[in-house]
Amino acid sequence: MRVAVAGTGYVGLSVALLLSQHNRVHALDIVPEKVGMLQRGVSPIRDVEIERFLRDKESMGLDFTATGDVCEAYGDADFAVVATPTNYDTDTNSFDTSAVEAALDAIRSVNPDCWIVVKSTIPVGYTQMIREKRNDRRIIFSPEFLREGHALYDNLHPSRIVVGAPRDDLEARKAADMFASLLEGGAEPEERERVNADGTTGIPKLVLGCTEAEAVKLFANTYLALRVSYFNELDTYCETKGLDTAQVIRGVCLEPRIGMFYNNPSFGYGGYCLPKDTRQLLANYRDVPQNLIQAIVDSNTTRKDFVADEVLKRVNKLVYDGVSKPVVGVYRLTMKSGSDNFRASSIQGIMKRVKAKGVPVVVYEPTYRGDEFYGSKVTKDLDTFKHECDLIIANRWNDDLTDIQDKVYTRDLYRRD
Ligand SMILES: NC(=O)c1ccc[n+]([C@@H]2O[C@H](COP(=O)([O-])OP(=O)(O)OC[C@H]3O[C@@H](n4cnc5c(N)ncnc54)[C@H](O)[C@@H]3O)[C@@H](O)[C@H]2O)c1
Repeated sequence: MRVAVAGTGYVGLSVALLLSQHNRVHALDIVPEKVGMLQRGVSPIRDVEIERFLRDKESMGLDFTATGDVCEAYGDADFAVVATPTNYDTDTNSFDTSAVEAALDAIRSVNPDCWIVVKSTIPVGYTQMIREKRNDRRIIFSPEFLREGHALYDNLHPSRIVVGAPRDDLEARKAADMFASLLEGGAEPEERERVNADGTTGIPKLVLGCTEAEAVKLFANTYLALRVSYFNELDTYCETKGLDTAQVIRGVCLEPRIGMFYNNPSFGYGGYCLPKDTRQLLANYRDVPQNLIQAIVDSNTTRKDFVADEVLKRVNKLVYDGVSKPVVGVYRLTMKSGSDNFRASSIQGIMKRVKAKGVPVVVYEPTYRGDEFYGSKVTKDLDTFKHECDLIIANRWNDDLTDIQDKVYTRDLYRRD
């Protein structure tokens, strides 16, 4: 098969690499520097598997193109995958899908017949709407479930493969089946033998209606945000009432229906997807009764307010103890340890709140290119950072901090993501 991919971010690049094992793949991005790096075999993002694939698998059928060569990238594709951003637009209360539509325009300008698979996360109902609006029946949707930092790994070992096509369109369902098989074909061979929790064997392949597939993506991410919020609110309660959070979490999570995983408190859920996807699902509930979805969105703001207040309490204590103008250090802007990406990370929300109270903030972020972040000094020198700051906040612990742990405020109880 010939596959084109629009967008070489976390989603587009991992899908392109996955499919290039058995297909001819051409990926296009509008950022020429990114394309230049990829053409040299250098990954623009930190991801062990992506870096390894780009380094070791030079003979794979994969090309990268910058905008301008639309015909070269999309012209002869059988499938064109769209993996462009869908940021949340607070003015329209919905995802901004303009980058998806720009990619659809570009693909159709040179290739009227290929199947377009939207991999970007989109509002529930979008595929059906865009098919009708453009009078284009060759658009289907496949949600992406990867985690940043493990983007390609999660495609090589997928929890499930979901593709959405209208239930009454046999041709589209056949294309959805074919695309699901392409994704399955790229997965590690041992995944085809695995036994799933429901007793089935192999990678579960679900060909659903488009709208159901869109709902799967937003409900899955909103559930993850719910779980993060739940343990964060448990922690807020324990901190406020002087209880030992770790003891309570252990006692709660040893219940097998709850489970001892994904229960580590933090400064709030963050990253590119959970904040925007929860808000989009809430927007989709516009005319449907709900309490929980609104609460999941609100809970994250309440958590950040709480964490910022805890930080400010400690700052005030330092003043009381005689430190004239305490400096708060932000240890990493990233959401997770091992990541080089800090889109919508929760620590930024804490930083903003603390700065709004006039407290000076210094940031330690070795992956940041500039010297300032929202008016705060950024340093790459850890020793200077430790020396300069009176209190250090860290969403995730790192052993780098051991020698000054008395200065550190974190809620990372288990010292893992
Ligand atoms: N990052 C994740 O963990 C993740 C997981 C699942 C789903 N998603 C969804 O997938 C989509 C992409 O996310 P991402 O994290 O890969 O984004 P990203 O920002 O890392 O990458 C998007 C890429 O698309 C490029 N681009 C923008 N407009 C383009 C156009 N018209 N043609 C070609 N390229 C274009 C950008 O330059 C960028 O390189 C979003 O809808 C996101 O919600 C992301």
